[in-house]
Amino acid sequence: MSHVEGRTVVPRVDAFRSITVRVKSLLTTVIYAASLPVVGGMVLANEAPSDAPTQVKAGAGSYAEHCASCHGQQLTGTTHAPGLSGAAFLKSWEGKPSRQLYSRIISTMPLSAPGSLEPAMALDITAFVLWVNKQAIVSSGYKAADELNDRLIKSPDSSL
Ligand code: HEC
Repeated sequence: MSHVEGRTVVPRVDAFRSITVRVKSLLTTVIYAASLPVVGGMVLANEAPSDAPTQVKAGAGSYAEHCASCHGQQLTGTTHAPGLSGAAFLKSWEGKPSRQLYSRIISTMPLSAPGSLEPAMALDITAFVLWVNKQAIVSSGYKAADELNDRLIKSPDSSL
C-alpha cells in the first residue's frame, strides 16, 4: 500500500501552492527512493536520499520533470545544456547570493518555457540544486525567495 503511505506524507507540504505537482513529485520520490537513492555518490535527479530535507526531495522530483532532459539526471549536463553541479558550476556562482540562482531559474528556465515555473516550485528546485552542490540548506525549507538573499554560494573548496 505504498500509494496510501505516499498520500499520508502530503499534509507536510500543504503549505505550498502547487499541491497537484507536489503530490506527483512525492509519489515519484516514494516509489523510487527504495531502489535507487544514490549512484556512485551522485544523487539521481528523480529522488533524493531519505535524510534530505522535504523541500529538496520535492525539488528533485520537479527537477526530473522540468530540467533533467537538458541538464542531465545527475546535473552533470548533456549536449543540450551545461551541468548544474560540480567545481565549474560552483566557480561561476561562488560568492553570489542563492537568490540570484533562484532568479536565473525562475526567469529563464526551462529554456523551452521561461517563466512557466511557479515560485514555490522554483524555490524547491533551487534548494535541490544548492543541496546537490553541498550548500547549507535550511532543513525546514525556504518559504519565500527573499530568504535566499543573504545566503552566499560557497566554493567547493570552502571550509565554511
Ligand atoms: C530545453 C533545455 C533546457 C531545459 C529544459 C532547462 N534548461 Fe537550464 N539551461 C539550458 C541551456 C542551453 C543553458 C545555457 C544557456 C543559457 O544560459 O541560456 C541553461 C542554463 C541554466 C543555468 C545557468 C547555468 C550556469 O552555469 O550558470 C541554470 C541555473 C539552469 N539552466 C537551470 C535550469 C533549471 C533549474 C531547469 C528546470 C526548471 C532548466 N534549467 C531547464 C537549457 C535548458
